[in-house]
Amino acid sequence: MDKKLVKAFNDQIKNELYSAYIYLSMAAYFEAENLSGFGQWMKTQAKEETGHAMKLFAHLIDRGARVELQAIPQPETKFSSAVEVFEKTLAHEKKVTAMINALYELTGKENDYPASILLQWFITEQVEEENTADSILQNLKKIKPDSSAMLMYDQVMGKRE
Ligand code: FEO
Repeated sequence: MDKKLVKAFNDQIKNELYSAYIYLSMAAYFEAENLSGFGQWMKTQAKEETGHAMKLFAHLIDRGARVELQAIPQPETKFSSAVEVFEKTLAHEKKVTAMINALYELTGKENDYPASILLQWFITEQVEEENTADSILQNLKKIKPDSSAMLMYDQVMGKRE
């Protein structure tokens, strides 16, 4: 695997783990707010992000390339509402989409077909990630924070596998 691409994969492993860290921080916020369903949803999201990092990790290993883990920045810890959290989730996922697209472009430039094929999975996943965050955000905008509807939505959110 080309050196530039190995570096870009290692960067993206860090970015996915940073995503996991952001969602874990959001989970902690929801738990502190007694919204344990939202907390559960975010913990599951954090696990998914770790899974994304591990797909890239496994690909480097399978290709005989070296995984070099990097420092993960501290995530934001203070949030003021569920709407704010999901606005930030959607904005973050859009950034990740741009990163994945750039990585895909690089695999094309390097004619690295196996890496391109792997990245196609991520491109499809990002459509789902943005769509899910946006749907939840739109629902939350219709719900008053201290309402029984919010408690019901919290229960729905907690059902995520
Ligand atoms: Fe790994 Fe939410 O993108």
